[in-house]
Order: sequence, then C-alpha cells, then structure tokens
Amino acid sequence: MTGAGSPDPRREVERAALVEALRVSRSALGVSTPNPPVGAVVLDAAGTIVGRGATEAAGGRHAEVVALDEAGDRARGGTLVVTLEPCAHHGRTGPCTARAIADGISRVVYAVSDPTPDAAGGAETLRRAGVDAVLYDDDTSAVNARTGPLAAWLHRQSHGRPMVTWKYAASMDGHVAAADGTSMWITGPAARRHVHARREEMDVVVVGSGTLRTDDPALTARISGSTPSARQPLRAVMGLTAVPRDARVRGTDGRFRHLETRDPAAALELLGDVNHVLIEGGPHLAGAFLTAGLVDEVDAYLAPVVLGDGLSAVTGAGVTTLPEAHRFRILETAMLGDDMYLRLTARRGTRGDVESGAETDAGAGAGTDTGAVADTGTSTDTPTEGSR
Ligand SMILES: NC(=O)c1ccc[n+]([C@@H]2O[C@H](COP(=O)([O-])OP(=O)(O)OC[C@H]3O[C@@H](n4cnc5c(N)ncnc54)[C@H](OP(=O)(O)O)[C@@H]3O)[C@@H](O)[C@H]2O)c1
Repeated sequence: MTGAGSPDPRREVERAALVEALRVSRSALGVSTPNPPVGAVVLDAAGTIVGRGATEAAGGRHAEVVALDEAGDRARGGTLVVTLEPCAHHGRTGPCTARAIADGISRVVYAVSDPTPDAAGGAETLRRAGVDAVLYDDDTSAVNARTGPLAAWLHRQSHGRPMVTWKYAASMDGHVAAADGTSMWITGPAARRHVHARREEMDVVVVGSGTLRTDDPALTARISGSTPSARQPLRAVMGLTAVPRDARVRGTDGRFRHLETRDPAAALELLGDVNHVLIEGGPHLAGAFLTAGLVDEVDAYLAPVVLGDGLSAVTGAGVTTLPEAHRFRILETAMLGDDMYLRLTARRGTRGDVESGAETDAGAGAGTDTGAVADTGTSTDTPTEGSR
C-alpha cells in the first residue's frame, strides 16, 4: 500500500506505458477504420516494455496481438496496457482477451471501456480467467484516450456518424481567398506541413465543387512537395457538377469519390463506415455543414495577413443575429511558424443560449465524451511545400 502523497511505483510505470500506447496508436489513425485506432504496450513482470502495437488495417491484427507477438515469452506474468478495453468477441480476428490469457498476462490496464455491444465485456472475461483487469482512472490530458486517437471512433459509436472536422486557412480578417480568388498561400510552410500531417490521420478529405474548379487540389497527404505519405485518406469532391476526368483529385490510386449531393448528412451516409472526415472548404461547403450542425471540430490556421475584400471563410452559415452564432471552445493552440493554429470543438446547444454558455450536448466532439484538452500529436517537422 502506498501512503497518501507518495507515488505508487506500479501506477507510474503503467501511466508511462499508457502514454506510450497512446503515442503508438496514432499510427493507426486513418488505417484501422472501421476498427478503433488502438495502441497497446506489454510490460514484462519487472515493468520493462517488451512489446508495442497499433491496430492494423481491417482484417489485420489488433493492437494487443501485435504487442503480444513482439513480446513473445516475455509477456508471461506481465501487464498488458491498452488504450481500449480488449475485445472478447470473435470478429474477423480472434478475441484479444483469449490471446492475453493464453500468453500468461497477469494484469490488464485499459483507458476506455469498449462501448460497442459486440466487443464489450472483455474486462469481465479476463477477470473470470483470474487476470487483474483495471480501468485506468486518470483522465488528465496526457493519458485521456477519449481526447486522443480514439476520439473520432468513440464519436461514431455514440452519434452513429463520423466525426467531422472543418479546416480552413485564413487571414487575420477571416478571409480564405483574396478578392480575385487567389488563395495560395495565405499561411506559411509550417502550417501547410501541419495540414498534411492531419490529412494522414483522416479517413476522408472533402472539398466542394467550387474549390475543385478554382484550385484543382490533389488533396493527398504529402511529406514533401510531391512525395506522398504512406497513409492516404480517401479524397472526395461534394457537389452536383461533374468532376473533370483530368482533375488532380482523381489521382491514380482509386481512392477518389464524387459525392453527388448537396446534403451534408447524405454525403456522410455515402461515405459509410468511416471514423473521421476532414472538410477542407470552401466557404459554401463549410456553411452547409455548419448549418446542418455537422461540424464537430475546427482546425483553424490564422495568418498575420489582411486581405480586406476577400472571400469569407464561411458563406451561408444560417446566422442572421448574434444569438444564432455557432459557438466553439478552444481545445488547443500552437504557433506554426508565423501562423497560429487553433483546434476547436463545437459547443452544442448554445445557439440562442449564448449568455449561459450551456452545453446540452456535451457528447459531441470533446464534451463529456472527450473531456480535457487533447494532445493532438501536433506534427510540424514533416517537410513539404503546399497543402493542396
Ligand atoms: N483558404 C482555405 O482554407 C480555402 C479552402 C478551400 C477553398 N478556398 C477558396 O474558396 C474558394 C471557393 O469557394 P466556394 O465557396 O465556391 O467553394 P466550395 O464551397 O468548395 O464549393 C461550392 C460548391 O460546392 C457545391 N456544394 C455541395 N454542397 C453544397 C451545399 N450544401 N451548399 C452549397 N454548395 C454546395 C456546389 O457546387 P455544385 O453546383 O457542383 O453542386 C457549390 O457551387 C476558392 O477561391 C478557394 O481557393 C480556400
């Protein structure tokens, strides 16, 4: 028993392992869908990390199995630290609980209970087999799996649709293009590198027909001006206009979709079983998703530039008077070169109720679902040229 105030050494080791499991799980973002991007770490009986794993692409190994494969015999008598409760069901792969038991794991620490009816009950299965299964009860930002890589998947479980993040890059007076339509580049290279790192984590990147027409964007995630990243989101254009055969967004890898609709909810339906969708504008598309109440988070890149008579970041957001404003809460801020990055989450239920600041649907975005300020793993060190 550890006295009040003195750190419990085992808890410290497990906390560090959970931070590592969360870090590892980022590599599953944009890869594991429709499965959750889970991270796992195996500690041997002495508390040394002997295995790490992240969820593989659908049909592949779960994070626990990857970590246990790496650990081998060293897992016996050890601890499995995992960001999501291990599954007890037979999906496309066998249950992770059975594998942990077979490998002689004596303790399992997990950060989030599995909310899905099929996969839940893993902790109970483990306990019945004599394994100590513990829900880690610390939700400080560094170890809060709900705010990290699992956030979009958890959002889909509770809302029945993917998390939607709207991204824009604007001047300090809120314009995303100059009066003549030019928009490359408002922000600098560091901000654009950040956009590419975010694309890698997404399942889908969407622009409207107008942006397609004006910018002919490639929408790929790139680690340099032309080198594609290993992880690529699906690229989509939304709108009724046909997408030209030679549009860059089509690419050659077959990862392109034309969403022939102007209805944001229908577009999400068309995308099916995905966890996280990035709406990259332009202003009409952003307005449509905002009006439909389908923007959960915002990635805002703000440059120290004034454009005056430019194109506003949003057109037609359904706001005619201040109480109808779409309200957000800041989750994260960072300087990216000369530009500022803000990550925001929607404050549901605040339209018409701005003075009280009430949040009646805290389950969306980072409300009670996702809680504290997140570590988004902001990555600014990937060299690239532009974000389109
Ligand atoms: N700085 C930035 O972050 C950024 C990002 C993106 C774009 N931009 C700039 O934005 C400008 C383009 O603006 P935009 O507003 O025309 O682009 P947009 O929002 O990408 O496209 C508008 C088009 O999207 C289609 N659409 C689909 N659903 C819609 C809906 N519910 N409501 C309205 N339209 C819908 C319509 O085309 P259909 O007729 O085909 O249905 C509409 O004409 C360009 O100058 C571009 O450079 C800047």
